Amino acid sequence: MGKKVTVVGAGFYGSTTAQRLAEYDIFETVVLTDIVEGKPEGLALDLNQSRPIEGFETRIVGATTGPNGEGYEAIEGSDVVVITAGLPRKPGMSRMDLLGVNAKIVRQVAENVAKYAPNAVVIVVSNPLDEMTALAQIATQFPKNRVLGQAGMLDSARFTNNVAEELKVPVGSVKTLTLGSHGDTMVPVPSKSSVNGKPLAELLPADKVEELVTRTRNGGAEVVALLKTGSAYYAPSAAAARMAKAVAEDSGAVMPVCAWVDGEYGISGVYLGVEAEIGAEGVKKVVETDLTASELAGLKEAAEAVRAKQADVADL
Ligand SMILES: NC(=O)c1ccc[n+]([C@@H]2O[C@H](COP(=O)([O-])OP(=O)(O)OC[C@H]3O[C@@H](n4cnc5c(N)ncnc54)[C@H](O)[C@@H]3O)[C@@H](O)[C@H]2O)c1
Repeated sequence: MGKKVTVVGAGFYGSTTAQRLAEYDIFETVVLTDIVEGKPEGLALDLNQSRPIEGFETRIVGATTGPNGEGYEAIEGSDVVVITAGLPRKPGMSRMDLLGVNAKIVRQVAENVAKYAPNAVVIVVSNPLDEMTALAQIATQFPKNRVLGQAGMLDSARFTNNVAEELKVPVGSVKTLTLGSHGDTMVPVPSKSSVNGKPLAELLPADKVEELVTRTRNGGAEVVALLKTGSAYYAPSAAAARMAKAVAEDSGAVMPVCAWVDGEYGISGVYLGVEAEIGAEGVKKVVETDLTASELAGLKEAAEAVRAKQADVADL
């Protein structure tokens, strides 16, 4: 049997994720669901019609779902489920402003995922990311390694792009890393960032690095301010799709993701942005990297900030 991946939510993030997953041509089926009647079916038909042109065989199945689980039988047997359902930010909003409304959506989706795809690895992208990932684990009751969130791949890609543009070098020559939360306590890690293996600190003055770090931290808001009607989705969908691919292929690829941390970096009992090996069981292992004292302090600060908020999501 070929692999099956489901994308819940057929908005901008979900539909572009479904497209990327289908175009990898490694899945037998990509299921796309939404509560807006006909939207996932229409997008699925459109995507299927692109197959002869793009030359891939993965079939895309659209399914409208209801609040009581109607339509969820379409996701049965999924190896991976990407949850994108929920409202995006508008200009001036923080990700935390979405907490109440998206918690209701993510809880309801996660409960149905647990019922219809009990063996799936769940990748959460709905915001606020760290809290929604914690909530999805609570609502599914899946082992913590089987529920993870997407943020670090995107934030690191933004950091990399910022560095590449600043130095006018190919993005392929730049390595960067961001850890921490997908929010104010994001921790870009300049000490692990380099261009052609040369540390960033040797290529740019400290104030320039700080400027790029700040732009990275505000990367999502910068796009929201320009779009005015929604948030980013090309880079976010690329990140989520790569994570789903690593699960499907059991690749063991090391990626920055929102994962359950249990002792690493001296931090325990919280979903936090860290590097992890990704495979068929979700997070195979959290990978620790050497951090400077101030980066480690930033990571611990992020952990405490998200811990306080994650404690509240159980009641939402
Ligand atoms: N983690 C990240 O890095 C990151 C990046 C960008 C966006 N996001 C978040 O991703 C989410 C989706 O963003 P978007 O741009 O696709 O928004 P969007 O408004 O385009 O799409 C959201 C979709 O979810 C659907 N939906 C709502 N309730 C649902 C339910 N119960 N079941 C199934 N579908 C449901 C809506 O009908 C809509 O089609 C937002 O919360 C946004 O903040 C996260």
